[in-house]
Amino acid sequence: MKKTINDLFVYVTGDVKNKPIIFVHGFPYDHTMWKEQIAEFSKDYFCVAYDIRGLGNSPAGNGQFTMESFVDDLELIIDELKLDKSVLCGLSMGGYISLRALERMPEKFFSAILCDTRSEADNNEGKLKRAAGIKRINTEGLAPFVRDFVTNCFGDDFKKNRKEELEKIIEKSSGFDPAGAKGGLLAMLSRTDTTASLGKIKIPTLLICGEQDTLTPPSVMREMFHKINKAEFLEINKAGHMTPIENPNEVNSALKTFLKKVTY
Ligand code: MLT
Repeated sequence: MKKTINDLFVYVTGDVKNKPIIFVHGFPYDHTMWKEQIAEFSKDYFCVAYDIRGLGNSPAGNGQFTMESFVDDLELIIDELKLDKSVLCGLSMGGYISLRALERMPEKFFSAILCDTRSEADNNEGKLKRAAGIKRINTEGLAPFVRDFVTNCFGDDFKKNRKEELEKIIEKSSGFDPAGAKGGLLAMLSRTDTTASLGKIKIPTLLICGEQDTLTPPSVMREMFHKINKAEFLEINKAGHMTPIENPNEVNSALKTFLKKVTY
């Protein structure tokens, strides 16, 4: 079922009496990147997947976003839907949002799944790259930026064997509002570093990372894993940065095993 909460596009499915899982997508994607997980987990969980402000069907408005405002949006969705102790599952930028949410309102979550993400803020080189991205969108439009950015997210197996799917993803993201994409880049550029809080995470946490992920590589996620008390870490075969799309079977089975252990 589609809902609108504070202008945001929110997709909910499954029995509302079941434990909620909130899926928070990466940049520059939308909630449909979780379609294989939603199909699987809506059988036993109440799945909530929304489009982050400025991406997909959630309007960009003035495009002035921060990680904090993204977490405000997540909090509002949780409150509006009256979600109690959710499983929070975020990928990459969705992971940045999740990590800050875990820092800011830990009482709202039951367990966490962090996919292909990192706790460190952007370094100077990273900030300059974001600035160059914004400049490129301003001068060339969104499509060329999206083509390079999205292509870079996927691993070699996906790029070689699933070219049509990749083209469809690029086409979809190229149609997003450029103001929203630029707002997302600014929010990531200005986000805080959540590394110091990793040791304070008290809930069971699963970290997964594609073996071919070059943006948030396994070595980076393994370091995060060592800083979280009740954590597990799994590398996903034949996948780059977009594990839920690239190897949904392995991701679903990792999530299922983890959730079975911690939920019931
Ligand atoms: C994402 O997938 O959300 C982005 O790669 C995150 C980033 O650019 O830092």
